[in-house]
Amino acid sequence: MDDKIGVLISEEAVENRIKEMAEQLSKKYRGGTVHLIGILKGSIMFLASLSRYMTVPVTMDFIAVSSYGSGTVSSGEIKMKKDLDQDIEGRDVIIVEDILDSGRTLSHVVEYMKTKNPQSLKVVTLLDKPDRREFEVDLEMTGFQIPDRFVVGYGLDYAEKYRNLPYIGVLD
Ligand code: IMP
Ligand code: MG
Repeated sequence: MDDKIGVLISEEAVENRIKEMAEQLSKKYRGGTVHLIGILKGSIMFLASLSRYMTVPVTMDFIAVSSYGSGTVSSGEIKMKKDLDQDIEGRDVIIVEDILDSGRTLSHVVEYMKTKNPQSLKVVTLLDKPDRREFEVDLEMTGFQIPDRFVVGYGLDYAEKYRNLPYIGVLD
């Protein structure tokens, strides 16, 4: 059976905001090269779009992590399923993620990246659910703050579906 999906943020609004974010980042990193690290799989659409609007040289890498525990209760442990391919020492790194929710994933990933001695390390997300925060994460920039609703589209899934929706939808 199909799930009912309402539009929370339109395709046009998402694209416009990502363009703005890319412009700001391009200004900030002018003269340098930005190394984007996407967290699979949710970040792929955002990273693809953001990087295409950026006007500074960009390189890319991806990691995959999984959190133990299911549902709303998690053990708080994060397992690295796919590590970095490239060394990040001395590089200007931006971690790119679909959504900052409890902050568990990103806080672990940030701590891990810090051990690799990048020259700089920032985090950008397309979405932020501030009401859900349990672990502090210092965000450089987010696309949209959203209420505590389960969203899909633009990389975000429900049981691996809907990542390809070109807008941010809510499951009814
Ligand atoms: P955190 O570790 O609790 O911050 O969770 C972050 C991850 O949970 C994200 O990378 C998403 O994969 C997933 N997630 C959190 N909220 C949503 C949502 O509303 N829809 C789909 N996935 C979500
Ligand atoms: Mg994710």
